[in-house]
Amino acid sequence: MRWLRRRRAARFPAITDASPLLPEAVWRPLVAEHLDAGQPSGWWEPVYATAVAQGRRLPWQEGTVHPWVAGWLEDPVHAPPGSRALVVGCGVGDDIVPLLERGYDVTAMDVSHTAIAWAQHRVRALVGGDVQPVRWLVADLLEVSATELGAFDLVVEVHTVPWLPGVVRDAAMAAIGGLVAPGGVALVITEVATSEAGRATHEGPAWAQAPSELAAYRAGGLVRLAIEHPSPGDAPTMEVRMTWQRPRGAPVGGSLDEGLPLLDG
Ligand SMILES: C[S@@+](CC[C@H](N)C(=O)[O-])C[C@H]1O[C@@H](n2cnc3c(N)ncnc32)[C@H](O)[C@@H]1O
Repeated sequence: MRWLRRRRAARFPAITDASPLLPEAVWRPLVAEHLDAGQPSGWWEPVYATAVAQGRRLPWQEGTVHPWVAGWLEDPVHAPPGSRALVVGCGVGDDIVPLLERGYDVTAMDVSHTAIAWAQHRVRALVGGDVQPVRWLVADLLEVSATELGAFDLVVEVHTVPWLPGVVRDAAMAAIGGLVAPGGVALVITEVATSEAGRATHEGPAWAQAPSELAAYRAGGLVRLAIEHPSPGDAPTMEVRMTWQRPRGAPVGGSLDEGLPLLDG
């Protein structure tokens, strides 16, 4: 007689203010190990898997849609409900929920298969089976396939780029641009340094972005429609929301090379 071993379903930790965090002393060594080995995206899977195994949440998990995503979706001039939306670095999926509720055709991408499984679990619990299904992609943004190029009217990126090391950031921003269809937009929420000091205030990841590096979205063929943020005051970093668009008629996958800026004198 053969005993069939039943796979135990993973129990995903709750994400509330009261849920315990995975200690930095546990996840930072996993980050360092992979960055030292030249694997900038290699640490996410072991960190998510450790969090699930230990019943802990992770520091970037808010347990709810980012309010600036929800606000943007109140008046989505360039990508109305029904259009094709991609959430890159979707994590546990909170920003997927309002897109589904408004009737977008949603694809969700993350490099970690545990994150995707956790997101599937949460999205199912939050919206039930009443909405059209999400297309789930376990994929590296830095290796997007040709079939995804220019395939989305709305690409949502919330705090993935600032968690990537500098060596791959330009490529990540260009890749996000490459996913946007002609006439489509990228909604980007990130942390930006307000001064040089702001880039070195704490141990990364995350590392706040320098304002100058945001131009890398142009290399993906996008033009900026909007940049919004509260007054930074004396804060070394600030959260920023940007809307970028691929102009109609612009080539997908190619770059709108604007050349180097001219220097005076
Ligand atoms: C800081 S978390 C933010 C998650 C989510 N956007 C949020 O705001 O809660 C960054 C996410 O990006 C994913 N990620 C990192 N590098 C990636 C890559 N190269 N391709 C796809 N996803 C990536 C990670 O697995 C993680 O879920």
